Order: sequence, then structure tokens, then C-alpha cells
Amino acid sequence: MARLEGKVAIVTGGGSGIGRGIVLAMAKEGADIAIPDIQVLNAEKTADEAKALGRKVLAMKCDVTSSADVKLMVDRTRDVLGRIDVLVNNAGMASPPGMPFMNNTEEDWDRTFAVNTKSVFLTCKAVTPYFLERKAGRIINIASIAGPLAAVTMPAYSVAKQGVITFTRVVAKELAPHRITVNAICPGVLYTEFWQKLAQHIADTNPAFKGMTPRQVFDKRVSDIVPMKCEQTPEDIGNAAVFLASDEARYITGQALMVDGGCVMW
Ligand SMILES: NC(=O)c1ccc[n+]([C@@H]2O[C@H](COP(=O)([O-])OP(=O)(O)OC[C@H]3O[C@@H](n4cnc5c(N)ncnc54)[C@H](O)[C@@H]3O)[C@@H](O)[C@H]2O)c1
Repeated sequence: MARLEGKVAIVTGGGSGIGRGIVLAMAKEGADIAIPDIQVLNAEKTADEAKALGRKVLAMKCDVTSSADVKLMVDRTRDVLGRIDVLVNNAGMASPPGMPFMNNTEEDWDRTFAVNTKSVFLTCKAVTPYFLERKAGRIINIASIAGPLAAVTMPAYSVAKQGVITFTRVVAKELAPHRITVNAICPGVLYTEFWQKLAQHIADTNPAFKGMTPRQVFDKRVSDIVPMKCEQTPEDIGNAAVFLASDEARYITGQALMVDGGCVMW
């Protein structure tokens, strides 16, 4: 039997990059999936791929920084797909400019926190009543190594993602007696649209990277900071998310799992 047979998962920002990897990994393991994404056309493309694997899928436009959108999204998922077993908070964005932090604007910080951190609070708040009713549920928050590493290239983002890790532990403690687990996954560096934009920004603004293509900037970052010296893929994150959503992980909660080729070792 597939590991997520009969389960329904919500994967926010599942239209591209890591979110798409999580959707497809979960669909291969038998889950039906809701894909709320601000870029609905991407959500629909990923939905078609998951449908081709035989799954029921609901793609919808949703801005995870809006409590009204989030509530509607959770209600629609339950109505159309019948239940909710897993919430994956994947939607996120990077926040250049980096160092010095004095170059950051108030707007950079507000937007970065809204998309990466407040959104996790909103979705958890909307889905928890369903999980409490059933005394079951899995919440998986996609944080980042930027939190524990305190990346000077991304001040607001680092703080926002460390906030996601702390919120994960707070909610894990609160929901543990109800058999609801809450964990974070911290990816390392992946060449998604997120990193392509970041690499372009680094090439444009950091003299050490002047004249390099985004791909060259990314490859240099991998060789500089990843002990395993090879690139990771969205499937690596998808596999970790499947594990945390599966029965095998029933006794794991409040953890931040580094899936990063060894960048952060506790
Ligand atoms: N790529 C990396 O190296 C890396 C490393 C660590 C953590 N992460 C985290 O992984 C997650 C996915 O990143 P990615 O690399 O796949 O990026 P991506 O840009 O490819 O995908 C992000 C997705 O989130 C969606 N999204 C953005 N804002 C949204 C909003 N307000 N409402 C709904 N959807 C929204 C986008 O439309 C997109 O589909 C993010 O949380 C990111 O912070 C990425």
C-alpha cells in the first residue's frame, strides 16, 4: 500500500519549485492534493501532473498572506476533497537586498514576514480546528537553513525563517496532546525560480560575482557551503515531506529537519 493512501494534503505554493516536488512526491504515495498558489496557472500545471498519477487534485488561486483567502482555501479543500490530513506550508519568497542590513527597507521586512511567517500562522489557525475534531493531523513547515545560519545575504528572510522554526515548536507543544504533529523542513540551496532571482541579484550587486550568470553564482554557492558538494532537488524535499506525513513519523514532532547536504550540523 502507498504510504499516503487515502490522505488529503494541502501544499501551499505547490505550483513550482520545491512545492511542485512535494506535490508530486505525495501524489506518487497516494495522496489527493490541494494546491493553493498565488500563481494559479502554475498550480494548474502541477495539478495536471498529479492527476496523471491518478490523484484527485484541486488547484486554486490563494494569497497565503490574506486570512480571508486562507480560510476560503481550507473550507474549499474540505468540501471538494472531503477531508484534510496534512498541511504543508511551502509558499515563500526570498528577500534581497542582503548585507549590509542597513540597505533593507521597512517594506522588505513587512513583505518578507507576511509571505514567509505570518502565512504559516494563518494556515495553521485555519486548519487546526479540523485536526482537533479528528484528533489527528500533520503540519509540515518549509523553513530554511538561512534561519540557523543567519545568512548575511538575506537578513529579513533569515529572521523570518527562524521564526517559522520557533513557531513550529510552539504549535507542536500546544497540539501534541491531540496527536497532531508539527515539524519543519529546512532545505539547503536549490536552483528554483526563487534562487534564480536571488543569484541574478547577487551577480548585479556583489562585486565578487560580477559578470557571472545566475547558474554560475548558484554553482559557486553550492561548492562554497554544501559539504556534499552536489546539487539537491525538489524531490529530496518531497521525500522528507512524505516521511513526516506518513505513519512512520507518528512520534516525531517539534523538529526542524535539515535536508541540506550537511550545511547545518547540530
Ligand atoms: N530554493 C531554495 O534554495 C530554498 C532554500 C530553502 C528554503 N526554501 C523555501 O522553500 C519554499 C519554496 O521555495 P522555491 O525555491 O520552490 O521557490 P519558488 O519561487 O520556485 O516557489 C514559491 C511558490 O510560492 C508561491 N507563492 C509566493 N508567494 C505566495 C503567496 N503570497 N501566496 C501563495 N503562494 C505564493 C509562488 O507562486 C511559487 O509557486 C519557500 O518557502 C522558500 O523560502 C527555498
